[in-house]
Amino acid sequence: MRVWLLSLLLCVVATKSQELQTFGTGLSSQRLHKAETEIFSYTLSAGATFGVLTHFWTTGDAAIDQSIFSYYIDGESVPSIQFVTYMLAGAGFNDRSAPWGTKWIGKGAKSGGWFNNFRVPFQKSIRVTGRLPDTSGDDKIIWIIVRGTENLPTSFHGFTLPPTARLTLHKIESATYDPLAWVRVADIPTGRGLLFSHTLAVSSGNLNFLEGCYHAYTQHEQQFPGLIVSTGTEDYFDSAFYFDGGQFHFDVSGFTHFQQVTNTTLEWSAYRMHDLDPIFFTNGFRFEWRNGDVVDDRGFKCIVDQGGHVVGSPTQSNVTSYAWVYVW
Ligand SMILES: *[C@@H]1O[C@H](CO)[C@@H](O)[C@H](O)[C@H]1NC(C)=O
Ligand SMILES: *[C@@H]1O[C@H](CO)[C@@H](O)[C@H](O)[C@H]1NC(C)=O
Repeated sequence: MRVWLLSLLLCVVATKSQELQTFGTGLSSQRLHKAETEIFSYTLSAGATFGVLTHFWTTGDAAIDQSIFSYYIDGESVPSIQFVTYMLAGAGFNDRSAPWGTKWIGKGAKSGGWFNNFRVPFQKSIRVTGRLPDTSGDDKIIWIIVRGTENLPTSFHGFTLPPTARLTLHKIESATYDPLAWVRVADIPTGRGLLFSHTLAVSSGNLNFLEGCYHAYTQHEQQFPGLIVSTGTEDYFDSAFYFDGGQFHFDVSGFTHFQQVTNTTLEWSAYRMHDLDPIFFTNGFRFEWRNGDVVDDRGFKCIVDQGGHVVGSPTQSNVTSYAWVYVW
């Protein structure tokens, strides 16, 4: 009888701990500071196996667009995810075109309205903070919402993330690359995982950087050319011929920003989601883009690592890149 009662009790506890408990917060008309400000902190309920952040939204003073938000996962002292909202939403150079959105990202208002629904798993706790950019005055108004759910699995069209998976953000922030330089968008020495999303923002002398092919190395030590992921930059973002159809915001990809700044400088940005076509890796991962590209003697691109014939006249480019990669 006692054994029976005990099993019943354990069963009730187990069932309860696996409940889809939703958590989160909404902060209205609050203040963000230059010093890091805590926005939300959550520790899993007793017995819950894991949690997942499912939503981020914010608006407020223009300085909020440039603010830096951090996700501290499982008690990290250095946040593994730290972003600005416009790059989180895939719109380089803080492009304020609105409204637009996909199920994953978007901007629902001219002023702010940035949102993101990437799944951010954790095993114990999550802490979200924000701080104004150094260039801002102290103390600006912010509205912000974050939300998630305990024990909620994350699946992408037939593939379910292992419960121990983590989302990691690999960044390049305003780094300068010479013509034909390789740009290492993600570099993960060991482990398994999948490339989930990528945003690229480039300023350059002309558009010839768009010749650059993307290469994935699904094992870290794999040799060039690895997996040729695209035959040019615009091809990776599901367009063609230097985006001759203009800007767009598809579910899977977007061309989000273009500005001819001076006769010799232009800005461009785009995003790509990989939930429909994940790029898995099995033993470390490198994901590389090239600032312009070359063809071999027959005129074929993406297959020459060094030497070759330059396509057009790519210039130095300043590159900002986010790559969101699940690892386990
Ligand atoms: C790249 O950044 C440097 C340093 O800020 C700047 O001098 C240069 O003009 C930039 N180049 C382009 C193409 O935007
Ligand atoms: C930019 O290009 C236009 C058209 O070719 C030319 O008229 C203008 O003088 C140029 N401006 C500069 C600053 O070089």
